[in-house]
Amino acid sequence: MTRKRLQSIFTLLLTFALYTSSTYATFNEKQMREHLRSAPSEDTYYSLNRFPESAQESLTDEIKNKSTRIYELVKKTISLELQVTLSQIISIVSFIEKMKPTLKKHFETHSSVYVHSESTLGASVMAYESGRIYIVFENDKGSVSGGFKRFTRSIEYNSEKAHAHLTIRKKSKYTKLRDIIKELHIQQAFEGIPSILNFLDADVYTERKENGHHEHVIAIEEELFDGDLGAMVLKRPNLDVMIDMFSQMAKAVKEMHGKRYVHRDIKPDNFLFRLENANIHVVLADFGLSESRKSSEFGQYMCGTSGFIDLKQCVYVSSEDGVAFHDFKEGKEADVFSLGMSFAEILLGTENRLATNTRQVNDIIFDEGAEKKKVEKAIEKFKALHAEEFPNRKNFQGNKDILFRLRDLIGRMIHPEDNRRIHLTEVIERLGRLNRDVIRMK
Ligand SMILES: Nc1ncnc2c1ncn2[C@@H]1O[C@H](COP(=O)(O)OP(=O)(O)OP(=O)(O)O)[C@@H](O)[C@H]1O
Ligand SMILES: [Mg+2]
Repeated sequence: MTRKRLQSIFTLLLTFALYTSSTYATFNEKQMREHLRSAPSEDTYYSLNRFPESAQESLTDEIKNKSTRIYELVKKTISLELQVTLSQIISIVSFIEKMKPTLKKHFETHSSVYVHSESTLGASVMAYESGRIYIVFENDKGSVSGGFKRFTRSIEYNSEKAHAHLTIRKKSKYTKLRDIIKELHIQQAFEGIPSILNFLDADVYTERKENGHHEHVIAIEEELFDGDLGAMVLKRPNLDVMIDMFSQMAKAVKEMHGKRYVHRDIKPDNFLFRLENANIHVVLADFGLSESRKSSEFGQYMCGTSGFIDLKQCVYVSSEDGVAFHDFKEGKEADVFSLGMSFAEILLGTENRLATNTRQVNDIIFDEGAEKKKVEKAIEKFKALHAEEFPNRKNFQGNKDILFRLRDLIGRMIHPEDNRRIHLTEVIERLGRLNRDVIRMK
């Protein structure tokens, strides 16, 4: 083999190594745990003045061009409470360029650095050891707050792409920031699987509160999606798009079950979507309540979002042993129920009678404790509603075959009788057939 050839193989291998290391999720667990254990203080709070000011160099064309590109990208992808100006972006880009040579030294002790803009720049900067640097826009008008996380958008400096920036703060004495580490591990277990949302970087930083006290905040950087399926419910997608969406949702849940995890919080809000040309791409997200079959607490507690939790769990929790489910099979069935309720919400709307009734049953456990008689009575009502909502074919009004098959499928996923429930593999098969038939009809 010639020297030249060897060199090119080496270059190829190096490029591959760099590529894989830079696209895959990173977080330094040990450091993150240490940081969370220490009391948040001024020592780890970084603002602009913590970085050495280098001699004021003249504005190069490179900085001007990069700033213009980033400015256009911000205008196109993020709507801000307070519009950022081109000159602010120029300051950010100049600052990042000055900061870059100092990062190596910094990463000897910390795997990331969050530089608070303190209104000087109009956006903060978070740089990670992975090499990715995010310009963070906290005043994003499109921010979304879930039960734990707050979603805003950021721009990754090197790739010049919009990303999702999620933050988690301590909301009450019951919020455990350390639990996020478990969630990150679960996401890592599904790295490379396109139907499961992954993250790119994650770390803890120190924030200064209005009262001058400091707090720990966890940041997670992810690929950006167009939104969650909760918003899609309101748009009432066409039947063919809906079936494709359902099929991807079911396959994502199957991926989790295949690796012996249950998700435990399946609902439209926890699926993200992206429109690619005329197609929709769906991923499953939010693993905050997910559990491995190996976990010592597997199935011990009922959790999830009211309106989506399997009624069978409510019966169990209100019965003698009080657990949510006994084995992996029951855990998987509970996910299928939630998936069925999610389909029902997308097809029939958020205020469909089954959703309202399921919420009532779930809330008996959440609000009032496990009252067996009350649960049983509410479930009787669910059975009656189920029979009305999912009649057999001869009673089905109208002759829309696809719609009937879709409703029948949902009815089977959330069936009140155990032996009538459908397995996820069959859900996927049926959706595959529906997909083919709906395309043929177009
Ligand atoms: N990568 C992303 N791209 C686009 N939107 C996202 C992304 N990640 C999260 N979101 C938005 O943020 C919301 C909250 O995220 P997530 O569900 O992970 O947080 P949570 O606080 O655990 O939610 P919950 O209220 O279900 O407990 C999502 O429903 C979605 O609207
Ligand atoms: Mg969520």
